[in-house]
Amino acid sequence: MKNEVLQAIADRRSIRAYTEEALTEEEIRTLMDVAMQSPSARNAQPWHFTFVTDQALIESVNAASAKAMGRDSVNIFYGAPLVVFISAEAEPFFPKLDCGIAVENLALAAHAMGLGSVILGLPKAGFDGPDGAALKKAMEFPDGYDFMIAISIGHPAAGKDAHPMLEGRISRIG
Ligand SMILES: Cc1cc2nc3c(=O)[nH]c(=O)nc-3n(C[C@H](O)[C@H](O)[C@H](O)COP(=O)(O)O)c2cc1C
Repeated sequence: MKNEVLQAIADRRSIRAYTEEALTEEEIRTLMDVAMQSPSARNAQPWHFTFVTDQALIESVNAASAKAMGRDSVNIFYGAPLVVFISAEAEPFFPKLDCGIAVENLALAAHAMGLGSVILGLPKAGFDGPDGAALKKAMEFPDGYDFMIAISIGHPAAGKDAHPMLEGRISRIG
């Protein structure tokens, strides 16, 4: 069998449908540890992780995002029982990259735990829109922090094929 980490990287998919089963507190605690174990430039740990299982709060971001996108309705969290919102300050060093690494840590850990996940950029519309300030407060983003990325996590109710890999994206020199 392939090394477990390599297998998880190979098998992870964006999962966009979940069962109604909630995550256990132990699972959530494990994911919190995973988030905080992520590497960051100069070890700045520039992030704030907001773990949300409150469906009304998740729906308020969904509704604000729909409004900001000029749509009647959207379903950007796919009914996930847990959404992690990652916020950070814009500077210094590499906060966006750090948050990207942290969200992939969460995606791989979720997969390794038998859960499904999808990384989400779309909630940015809601946080940048007219309801953004209220949402940041409700999400307990620290002062000056902005939405960077989110991830929906739950028990998978659908599978997905691996994404097709684009040609010509790798050079091997020497
Ligand atoms: C930064 C980032 C933002 C993304 N935002 C969304 C999103 O808002 N909604 C969504 O359904 N998928 C989103 N995705 C998932 C991608 O569509 C997905 O990773 C890609 O199609 C490859 O599929 P795979 O993850 O199954 O390999 C995002 C992925 C990344 C890395």
